[in-house]
Amino acid sequence: MDTRAKKRAAAEAALRYVEDDMVLGIGTGSTVEEFIGALGASRVRVRGAVSSSAATSARLRDAAIPEIDLNSAGDLPLYVDGADQATPHGVLIKGGGGALTREKIVAAASSRFVCIIDDRKLVDLLGAFPLPVEVIPMARSYVARRVVALGGEPVWRQGFVTDNGNVILDVHNLRIEDPVALEARIDAIAGVVTVGLFARRGADELLVAGDDGVRRIAVSGP
Ligand code: A5P
Repeated sequence: MDTRAKKRAAAEAALRYVEDDMVLGIGTGSTVEEFIGALGASRVRVRGAVSSSAATSARLRDAAIPEIDLNSAGDLPLYVDGADQATPHGVLIKGGGGALTREKIVAAASSRFVCIIDDRKLVDLLGAFPLPVEVIPMARSYVARRVVALGGEPVWRQGFVTDNGNVILDVHNLRIEDPVALEARIDAIAGVVTVGLFARRGADELLVAGDDGVRRIAVSGP
């Protein structure tokens, strides 16, 4: 099975969590695009979705799924999103698409986070995928120096501006052995908006698509 078919399989497996009249949170990325397509084509009629990015908002419009502002939605029963890497404990690296800040907000506001991935993203130790950090533009060099002091190699994602008007540093070669502590340390650097490490609020369930079908992993935290 190719990667696209795996993404579709994981996305379709997430449909069983969605109920009629629900307002759910929806992440960003190519796996989520498969989910939005499957949801739009399904018989389930949700009240609407809280979007995590301009790209997802456009896909929701295409699928005729009403978008609802998080400020009027209250807490959400469900958040469905992909990830760049995930551990079996539900700790994630996200932000390959640059939507990490809004994704982290919607995940925080949701009581259940179902993460849909293909099996090449499931790892025991995070870090082979560079860790995205959203940064206020004037703090770019300062934050980069602080990240070097933590042992990382930051690379400015040139030409990319987030939906919030900020820049992204992709941090290479970090050994992420204590993700909760690293998330707190990077978040505490002045000028950092969000680090794409989802440890404090990781996924509650992983749906991992492989050649033999979709495996569900219920996680108990980092
Ligand atoms: C978006 O900023 C990311 O967090 C995505 O969730 C992540 O990059 C997964 O994307 P794909 O589903 O396209 O692999």
